Formats: sequence, C-alpha cells, structure tokens
Amino acid sequence: MPSIYVGDVWINVIDRGLGSPVLLVHGFPLDHRMWAEQIDVLSTRHRVIAPDLRGFGDSYGAAGTTTMARFADDLRLILDQLRVDEPVAFCGLSMGGYIAFEFWRRHSVRVGSMVLCDTRSAADTPDATRNRRLQADRILATGTEDLADQMLPKLLAPATLSDQPKTVRRIRQMIEKAEAAGVAAALRGMAERADSTGMLSDIRVPTLCLVGEHDAISPPDEMREMAAQMPSAQLVVIPDVGHMTTMENPGAVNDALLEFLGR
Ligand code: MLT
Repeated sequence: MPSIYVGDVWINVIDRGLGSPVLLVHGFPLDHRMWAEQIDVLSTRHRVIAPDLRGFGDSYGAAGTTTMARFADDLRLILDQLRVDEPVAFCGLSMGGYIAFEFWRRHSVRVGSMVLCDTRSAADTPDATRNRRLQADRILATGTEDLADQMLPKLLAPATLSDQPKTVRRIRQMIEKAEAAGVAAALRGMAERADSTGMLSDIRVPTLCLVGEHDAISPPDEMREMAAQMPSAQLVVIPDVGHMTTMENPGAVNDALLEFLGR
C-alpha cells in the first residue's frame, strides 16, 4: 500500500485499476478496509483510490482536532500526488460524506459526481457536539478499548449483528486499529463541522445517495429529504441493513455503484 506525504503525516492509500477515478472515503472510526468489496469490483472498470484517513488504519500522526477541511485538503494533496487530474467520483460514507461536503466547498472542480452513503448534511446539535467533545476527552484519557462495543450496535442492523459474525469481526478489527489520538481528533473535527444543508442546491453534479433501510445514525427519511434538495440526486435504499451498507450488503451496493458510475 503506497504512502503519500501530505505535509505533516504519511497517508496510506490504495490505488488500483484503470479508468475514470473513484475516490472512496471511509467512515468513523474505520479505514479503507470497509470498502474491500467495492475496491475489488470497481477496480475492474475504474481507477479506485481508497486512503486510510489520518489517524485511522495505517495512517498515523493525527493530533488535536482533525477538521473536515483538513481531511478534504489531505485528499486533494493525494489526488495531486497521484496525478489524478480528471474530476473524481467522490464516494463517502458517513464521516466520509461530511468530508465530501467540505471537499465540494473547497475543491469542487475536482468533483465529477458524488456518492453519499449513510450520511447527513446537517451539523451536530449542541448536545451532540458536547457529547463528542466529552467522548474525545475520555478516549484520550482511557483509550479506545470500549469503543467497538459501544459502536457496533449503532453501526449494524440487528440481523447483521446476529447473522454476520465475520462482518462484525472485521468492523471490530478496524475500530481497534484506529489510534486514540486520531479518533479523538476526528470526534472534535466532526463536532465543529459546518452545516452543509444550505449548499445542497448548488451541488449540481450527478449524485447517488445510498442508505440502509435500518440506518440508525443517518435514517432514510433524513437522507430522502437531503437528496430532494440536490438538483441531480437519486436515492437508493438498501433493504434489511443498517449504517454499514457497503459491508452489510456489498452486492447490492456494488450493483448500485456500477450502474451509477457507468452512466
Ligand atoms: C460514521 O459512520 O462515520 C459516524 O457514525 C459518523 C458520526 O458519528 O456522525
């Protein structure tokens, strides 16, 4: 997995396949492995770029607060260094979607289309902001040991939790790999992210919104409302799964992605 220096840290990036570029941006507190099935399938037709964001997976050195703008600028530097000049299909899940909005705000000429999976345009409520900051302090003091147990029931549909032990294990491994400083920094960054709802009507590139039927973090109704405000967006609901659509039903997600990207 090549490493790319973005000015202060090294970012590990998968760069596989040939064709129009697709940038896969993972959610919190995961890494590029959440896209394993998408990387395998999409790279038969596209150039797939899938980083471990700073502080996650095999990318280390996050500290303080990692704003969505910092993540977005890291991605732009990665595209520059990989000489990806063509606009990309920016595909982000959850926190990856928050970063997609910030990337659009800062580098919209680099975006040819968007795939927004299980995410939201709204900022955190004051309560959610406070809780994220408390959680960040707690993690810095005591580590990430309990994080997987706390998050798994929110990330996955109940049926996935009981029937897909391998998926559960893979997610647990990713969460346990993330460094505490990176997790805390991303929590603080998400807490201070901007509300992007007012910008939705300006995003005129073709957009696919994907959401799991039982997503408890970014529910389908909220995503439906979001997609309705985007001039060129369509919504696909993946049945019987939760927040981690890409891993809970990779086949359905891959079909939707190939169809959208092939247009
Ligand atoms: C994610 O999946 O990236 C997180 O659930 C996002 C969040 O905590 O808002």
